[in-house]
Amino acid sequence: MTGLSDRNFIITAALPYAYDDLHLGHVASTHLPPDILYRYLKSRGARAIQVCASDDFGTPILIAAEKKGVKPSDYVAEWNRRFREDLGRLGIVYDIFDRTSSPENVRLVQDFFRALDGNGFIFISDVDQFYCEYDDKFLPDRYVKGRCPHCGAEEQYSDACENCGRTLQPGQILDPHCSICGRAPVMRKSSHYFFKLSAFSARLKEWLSQSPRLQADAKNYVLNWIKDGLQDWDITRDIPWGVPVPLKEAGGKVFYGWFDNHLCYITAALKAAGKTGEAGVKYWNESTVYHFIGKDIVYHHYLFLPSMRMGEGHYKLPDLIPTRGHLLLQGRKISRSKHWMITVRDFLEGFPPDYLRFYLTRIVPYSQADANFDLKEFADKINNELVANIGNFAYRALVFVKNKHGGVVPRPSGPGKEEEAVTGDLVAAVSDTGRLIEEGHYDRALRAVLDFSAKCNQYFQHRAPWENPETEPTTVYYSCNLVAGLAVLLHPFLPFSSEEIWAQLGFKEPLAERGWDSAAGLTVPAGQRIGEPRPVYRKVEESDLGKVKVLLG
Ligand code: 2FM
Ligand code: ZN
Repeated sequence: MTGLSDRNFIITAALPYAYDDLHLGHVASTHLPPDILYRYLKSRGARAIQVCASDDFGTPILIAAEKKGVKPSDYVAEWNRRFREDLGRLGIVYDIFDRTSSPENVRLVQDFFRALDGNGFIFISDVDQFYCEYDDKFLPDRYVKGRCPHCGAEEQYSDACENCGRTLQPGQILDPHCSICGRAPVMRKSSHYFFKLSAFSARLKEWLSQSPRLQADAKNYVLNWIKDGLQDWDITRDIPWGVPVPLKEAGGKVFYGWFDNHLCYITAALKAAGKTGEAGVKYWNESTVYHFIGKDIVYHHYLFLPSMRMGEGHYKLPDLIPTRGHLLLQGRKISRSKHWMITVRDFLEGFPPDYLRFYLTRIVPYSQADANFDLKEFADKINNELVANIGNFAYRALVFVKNKHGGVVPRPSGPGKEEEAVTGDLVAAVSDTGRLIEEGHYDRALRAVLDFSAKCNQYFQHRAPWENPETEPTTVYYSCNLVAGLAVLLHPFLPFSSEEIWAQLGFKEPLAERGWDSAAGLTVPAGQRIGEPRPVYRKVEESDLGKVKVLLG
């Protein structure tokens, strides 16, 4: 836990596609874990920046904008605004929430392409593609629908079957029809640009084997994909919405979204740090770089992203790609089409943001194992852990200050054995929680805070200030300080309620400005006037859950 304050950290969260609201699954794997790390690092004095962006390009977005009759650029701008609003309400604030269609990103993408081309990693090849003679255009990916050749499901997109989850090659779909006009398309040849992914097999293997901080489970199956042989990658599309290929002879082709989107990690980070040119490259390369993702995009982050950076040659590879599993909802896979989904927006109509942050952090491990969001368990955890453990202790301690000491923290006598023990527990909790956060185990880190809070409750219960007038001021003084320590420890996880506890303790400056290490000291002086004690957490009742249940199915 030393030496964080003189280091740079760049933290990115996978970019949401600009055509759908964020749901609980996005938060669980992608947005909340990095925010905990980011807040923690800042409280340790590190120079950390956290960035994200809307993923603006691609056929699904173009189709959605066309359906709505708006310009794609206006369409994605609206989603970008909604994302920032939803995430902001959850306390997840990015230094920059960029867009992959920003001019800076378009420039970087085109520069990358030129460099990759100059270094011999780009070639042109003909591909057979669906073409609609009526609409007079090539129909990539989502522009064609048909029957899945594997499971027979109707109305599936030509690139993937939602029913059986398999990806499809162009031409595999049965009974294809154009998703704009419904007519059967023909096959035509079109020239595309390809990236020589296969040229990177050896270097990727070496990088994976020599990066101990990448998760072992992900590495193993990526190494297997490499062993099976990497296919060169078609990086262009014949549609009017994307980063233009910067060559005259490209005839208006644009890049496939996965060629440009992850480059926005670099664009946004350098923007946030205010660095350009060589200074930007230097800053990137001197930082510890984290890309937080969900396990469905491992292929892109462990193969496409690193090989493009290797091929371009300037920007270092990520140090960590924290990869988490899917979030199930009541035991079932989240699916928009099957109406089995809860958006962030809807959830926050019913519950405070810290409740969601708390429960998701408790159940999502640092691994690719799936987690299950269960409404009954959500209520139990809020009621038994947040309300009965943390909230209860803070409220009881502060009410004593108000009722017995006129709202002023009393002066203690020297610490007794029990005070020494519980302040020792606090010191241990600060170090354990910090270590677990640094190791990526936010679930266990929060567990450590809860265990410590349970000890605080036991301390208060043993000391029983209501029947021991002699030791009562000491108990209350120490309890206030334990509450302050808890607030600092909770802050990366629960930024809103920890600030509220902090304000009730009578502090005027925000908790966010407090250093992590101050948690271990006695920071609430005798004589401090506290604010009005109020229970910070409220029980979740069965009737509260009803509001969320109606959103399902
Ligand atoms: O799978 C997705 O939702 C993509 N929009 C993620 C993009 S992350 C990236 F930019 F690397
Ligand atoms: Zn299928």
